[in-house]
Amino acid sequence: MTYFKKIIRFAKPYKRFAILNIIANIFYALFSALSFIALIPMLDVLFEGKEGRENKVIEKPVYTEVSNAKDYFKDYLSYQVNEYAQDDASMALILVISLVIILFFLKNISNYIAMYFITFLRNGVLKDLRNALYKKTIELPLSYYSEKRKGDTIARITSDVLEIQHSFLSILELIVREPLTILFTIGAMLFISWELTIFVFIFIPISGFIISLIGKSLKKKSDRVQQEQGHFLSILEETLGGLKIIKGFNAESIFYSKFKASTLNFYNFSNKLLNRQNLASPASEFLGISVIAVLLWYGGRLVLIDGTLDGSTFIAYMGLAYNILTPAKGISKASYSLKKGNAAAERVLEILETENNIKDQDDAVAKTDFTSELTLENISFKYEKEYVLRNFNVTVKKGTTVALVGQSGSGKSTIANLVTRFYDTNEGEIKIDGVNIKQIQQKSLRNLMGLVTQDSILFNASIKENLKIGQPNATDEELIEALKIANAFDFVNSFPNGIDTNIGDGGGKLSGGQKQRISIARAVLKNPPIMILDEATSALDTESEQLVQKALENMMQNRTSLVIAHRLSTIKNADTIVVMHQGEIVEQGKHDELITSDGIYRKLVEMQSFE
Ligand SMILES: Nc1ncnc2c1ncn2[C@@H]1O[C@H](COP(=O)(O)OP(=O)(O)OP(=O)(O)O)[C@@H](O)[C@H]1O
Ligand SMILES: [Mg+2]
Repeated sequence: MTYFKKIIRFAKPYKRFAILNIIANIFYALFSALSFIALIPMLDVLFEGKEGRENKVIEKPVYTEVSNAKDYFKDYLSYQVNEYAQDDASMALILVISLVIILFFLKNISNYIAMYFITFLRNGVLKDLRNALYKKTIELPLSYYSEKRKGDTIARITSDVLEIQHSFLSILELIVREPLTILFTIGAMLFISWELTIFVFIFIPISGFIISLIGKSLKKKSDRVQQEQGHFLSILEETLGGLKIIKGFNAESIFYSKFKASTLNFYNFSNKLLNRQNLASPASEFLGISVIAVLLWYGGRLVLIDGTLDGSTFIAYMGLAYNILTPAKGISKASYSLKKGNAAAERVLEILETENNIKDQDDAVAKTDFTSELTLENISFKYEKEYVLRNFNVTVKKGTTVALVGQSGSGKSTIANLVTRFYDTNEGEIKIDGVNIKQIQQKSLRNLMGLVTQDSILFNASIKENLKIGQPNATDEELIEALKIANAFDFVNSFPNGIDTNIGDGGGKLSGGQKQRISIARAVLKNPPIMILDEATSALDTESEQLVQKALENMMQNRTSLVIAHRLSTIKNADTIVVMHQGEIVEQGKHDELITSDGIYRKLVEMQSFE
């Protein structure tokens, strides 16, 4: 319950709906009890039979004292019925039936109104919880997701939240509606016969205990089901993302069996869960009917042997006792569903309560311009245990281009991750104009930078929408200008829909080189003072490589850039070339200098020319 309690705060904005629900439920419980009491005169009319009715003289009852209230109420009802019916039996019948119908109608109307209001609360909580989760999902640092499976996060935002929504209905049923119904019903029962009601009181705790035994391991079981749901969504997500490879490598059966294993687990886990949960209703009904059997025995004796209770009252009483069964069943079911909700709440809270370790400091400044230099001072960094960068130093002066080269895995993309503060350094400082980037608001820091990532990340939208991400107010002219700089205008223009062409999931309708040039255009359109380029020209053929290279050259002109290059031809003109090897700088200088010094760089260049 502890987790679920924390989720309750999401219901706060919808408090008024909960209150309205409670009010409607009070009426529900009241009418529900009354509708059974109203059966008494109805039964009286029936039991009196033809003769009984004709010869009967009913006097207006007189209220004397509290102990007499029951008889007074009953007699008063009978008296009124008799008054109106005026010895007309069919009229009496219609009257009592109308009374019953009206009460049941009111009971059900109250029920509907209660459900009506609670719907807003439940769906409101669902909406707000999803929004909060999504917001957190965007806020959390990238490092959080290198561990997690995407499908698991998706499952938490979809099915776990639904489970919680479900529980919110249960909680109100559990603490308001059913207890009230039971309370009113027991009130009515006490009113009719306190001796019989004592029996009920003895059996309620016993039944409660048995029912709680059934619900014991429910949270754990539900947790497993939800986890498995996350697992198979992950498989699905990876499958859709990697369909080309799965088909290309004939790996369908591998993935299919992984998926089947997961759905089989899900099948087993949820069978266990549901079968345990399904016990709730029959078990409580059977316990209830056992109580009723005892009541029938004892009450039957009061009617037949002692004669202290009349038949019609006894039948109404039994109706009331049976009326307790439904809410009792409801309570046990609701408490089970609350346990499931608790398991889901734990999974949802795990995301909501994850501490974001890359946060703006309270005194962080908004930096809106870049005037002199970007410096990396003595940087050391590790993703996990191994340091991937050690004592790294580099300075990018305004208006210059610094290129990072080095073998795969030497830590180049990591530098881009640190400068943009996707990760924080373990040691050393990164400064912009002498200000540590940890002291700059993340939003303004990233506003200063344009980012072209190694794998072009594009969204399923039009070219226009993709470009406008960094500059929502850009005009079509500016857009076209950016496309021209990125050497992308020609191919975009050749599409029938031009910049309004949809590029498919992840830009799947474009070629590799086209994707890169769109992602370059996106950074150009943003027009930031510092460009961070992680180019992947190595993945392209010579022709598109030249197109991309031209795009990069255009882009770097008159800008400050930190370029990570695989194709060394791209960076021939860079002001400084930094050669990295296993996280450390091994050489540094201009192209010509490095060629003459005959070190690693020269070897790299020779290897590429040879290709
Ligand atoms: N998210 C991560 N979690 C853990 N280790 C990582 C992560 N990203 C990269 N690494 C490790 O850090 C090292 C440097 O990776 P990085 O991506 O910076 O290399 P790179 O120089 O960009 O290589 P390439 O030229 O192939 O793009 C690698 O050994 C890699 O295994
Ligand atoms: Mg890289």
